Amino acid sequence: MTVEPDDGSTKALRLRLADALGKSGDLRTQAWRAAVETVPRETFIPGFFEAIDDPRETMWRPVTPDLVSTRERLELTYTNETWVTQLNHEISAFDTDAPIPGVPTSSSTLPGLVVRMLEELHVGNDDRVLEIGTGTGYSTGLMCARLGQEFVTSVEVDPAVAGRAKQGLAAAGFAPDLVVGDGLVGHQPGALYDRVIATCSVRHIPDAWIAQTRPGGLILTTMLGWLGASSGLVRLEVTGGGKAEGVFLGGTDSFMPARPHAAPPISDDLSSWIDDVDTTERYTDVGPEILDPWDAITPIFIAQLAAPAAQLLSYSLDDGPMLDHVVDASQRAVAILYAPPNGSAVVRQAGPVNLWDQIEMAVLEWLAAGSPALDQFRISITPEAQMVWYGDPNGPLSWNLPTIR
Ligand SMILES: C[S@@+](CC[C@H](N)C(=O)[O-])C[C@H]1O[C@@H](n2cnc3c(N)ncnc32)[C@H](O)[C@@H]1O
Repeated sequence: MTVEPDDGSTKALRLRLADALGKSGDLRTQAWRAAVETVPRETFIPGFFEAIDDPRETMWRPVTPDLVSTRERLELTYTNETWVTQLNHEISAFDTDAPIPGVPTSSSTLPGLVVRMLEELHVGNDDRVLEIGTGTGYSTGLMCARLGQEFVTSVEVDPAVAGRAKQGLAAAGFAPDLVVGDGLVGHQPGALYDRVIATCSVRHIPDAWIAQTRPGGLILTTMLGWLGASSGLVRLEVTGGGKAEGVFLGGTDSFMPARPHAAPPISDDLSSWIDDVDTTERYTDVGPEILDPWDAITPIFIAQLAAPAAQLLSYSLDDGPMLDHVVDASQRAVAILYAPPNGSAVVRQAGPVNLWDQIEMAVLEWLAAGSPALDQFRISITPEAQMVWYGDPNGPLSWNLPTIR
């Protein structure tokens, strides 16, 4: 793989991207605009995958200098799109000549989202920033351009991804402190930081991020659950003594989970248990429509808080219609949702906890509170607990986050 030097030929494309991000409202300040105009995205994604719609499964078309014309590749590079750069933890676009299936495991995030997050980070000159999830290094490069490379530390868990990011950053003229390792433990040698930003999504805020941020400093991250809601963007202010207070910023964004925070795979044994288990059936006031991410995001978010280890699977039983299965693998519990044509909703549950009872109760409380949007929710962190709440931290709309410490 070769990394192209920045010969200035993409300046016009960078200006075009900056204009587009300004128009969309993601890019708001001159300082970050100058960074977008300066940093050549192509040095960070010399090769990437483009999704091709296929009725059976998503296929990934490699876009590399050998396979695609420079003009088309640069056009794609400078569109406001997320480009996948790794499949299945190991395959890069340079490893194949033809479209292949696979699960994205690293990407160059949507530039609009990258700059929105950078704007929301509220950096000042001389702020020292820790980034979790170097990925391609593009967002790292933007921070180097804005703050100076000596103020930027970035951690990437995947050594191959980190190696490519280092090359891309060098080609763009930057040499920040790049660390290969688990960003969930931060990077103590560089602490204290003024800002921590994560470009992978977490289920709870790692203690290390709080400990390594100075009091008054900010942490910006997306938070995920396992029922399929996009991640909610959160900004926390560290207040000292292992504590932090934060707000959800509204809007939702899809981000890759930080590696140990992804939902566990469902074992064959658990699948067989789900197929055969005796269930208890009842009508429910909260039907499967609340699990539709294209409808409204807050109800799924509430469901995730109410049943934090539950994940959503969709499959049919006995060749019947596709049904939503809410499954908690750790407790071996399942709720299967039906929406019969008469407009009612039915749930069948099994296991030591009734997952849908928990979700239904929380969603009904949320409806009774007037269906507040995500940006009305707050997050409070102490060394003992992490809590997401609306209105009153001790009220009915408050939940402890699952913390694996
Ligand atoms: C969406 S990509 C980052 C995008 C990047 N900021 C960019 O502009 O290209 C998320 C990255 O987080 C990395 N990652 C996942 N879990 C991590 C962890 N525990 N520590 C550090 N990096 C992690 C993934 O390997 C992946 O490269």
